[in-house]
Amino acid sequence: MEKFASAAELVAKLKPDRPVLASRPHAAGRAARWFLENFPGDVAYAYKANSSVFMIGALYGAGIRHFDVASVPELEDAHTIPGAHLHFMHPVKSRSSIRRAYHEYNIKSFSLDSEDELRKIVEETTGPNGLARDLVLFVRVAVPAINSRIPLERKFGVAGEKAADLLVKVRQVASELGLTFHVGSQTMTPDAYSHALTEVHNLIVRAGVVVDRIDVGGGFPSIYPDGSPAPLSAFIDVIKAGVEELPVRNDVRLMCEPGRALVAEAESVIVRVDARRDNGLYINDGGYGVLFDAAHLNWIYPAQLVSRDLQPGEQLAPFELWGPTCDSIDRMKGPFLLPSMIREGDYLEIGNVGAYGRAISGDFNGYGKYDEAILDDEPIMSMYGGATSGARTAEG
Ligand SMILES: Cc1ncc(COP(=O)(O)O)c(C=O)c1O
Repeated sequence: MEKFASAAELVAKLKPDRPVLASRPHAAGRAARWFLENFPGDVAYAYKANSSVFMIGALYGAGIRHFDVASVPELEDAHTIPGAHLHFMHPVKSRSSIRRAYHEYNIKSFSLDSEDELRKIVEETTGPNGLARDLVLFVRVAVPAINSRIPLERKFGVAGEKAADLLVKVRQVASELGLTFHVGSQTMTPDAYSHALTEVHNLIVRAGVVVDRIDVGGGFPSIYPDGSPAPLSAFIDVIKAGVEELPVRNDVRLMCEPGRALVAEAESVIVRVDARRDNGLYINDGGYGVLFDAAHLNWIYPAQLVSRDLQPGEQLAPFELWGPTCDSIDRMKGPFLLPSMIREGDYLEIGNVGAYGRAISGDFNGYGKYDEAILDDEPIMSMYGGATSGARTAEG
């Protein structure tokens, strides 16, 4: 894998014809170290966010050993990581995937949000010696999405009396009982976690069960040009305070499942402008590629020109981007602030695409093929300090 000092150096040397997925593993390592040092429990990386070898290698090198997986292909991949502890945290699993996870891959840790799922887990983990005695089962609780860019609460999660009944039933079969939730991805303020922990508190009281584990899920923010999330340390403080109040065992084991916060800023895509029409730039990656969220959720990524210096008097101007496919959905409205004299043949670095970008990209219209490179410099924006612009630290 070729290494470059910066996106500008890469473009000057290669003039790449295909878009380039440019990784900064040191940024993923820095994020992982921050979580490992500051979160008072297990840090389980949400494998779905980005499973490239550069990211997994960097996270592993920093000390990440727990992984949240959501499917058999993910666990087949992740179980090859030496010393990995895998948690199958998808609340709806096929019977065959439960069976394979438990019997073939020795996974004990599952989430669920219904009695039907509990029945499936119990039946599929029963072996010749009878019921499994080593299950760690997390009940996924529905919690309100507060200030999150991608709310997840409508699809999964159980609440109220149903949740209390389920907790009692799970307690009867689990060796360890946990509660989990997901406040929604890119949650900007920590009050989402305090509300969620209040829900958890009320449910535990209602069910009257002994609780061994609390998993606060993912949702921790990265940084993008159109918003200013609270510092990550504020999230940790709120979680610690909320957990302190819970009626759980003194030695309750905590876990979190960050995806975005660990990898978003550790990957950029370098694209070429193939045409300019007014303030629309036609580039060689788009909504069917790494920039899915920019097209479908109107996500605004930091972007910069990397192929030339600014012309005298050149100012920043708002642009929209069009992807390379023939589909008019392939439009990234932005606005992306870029130098006003951009023209065909210029290259842009679009930053902070490391979470879900590579993972979602497909090859519609024959696109979706990337060159790969490593960059040694800092991300355009960072939550952890060390950025070329928009730097903030996890402390604020
Ligand atoms: C169960 C679960 N855990 C963790 C994550 C990671 O979330 P984020 O990337 O917002 O941290 C997700 C994302 O969808 C998820 O579904």
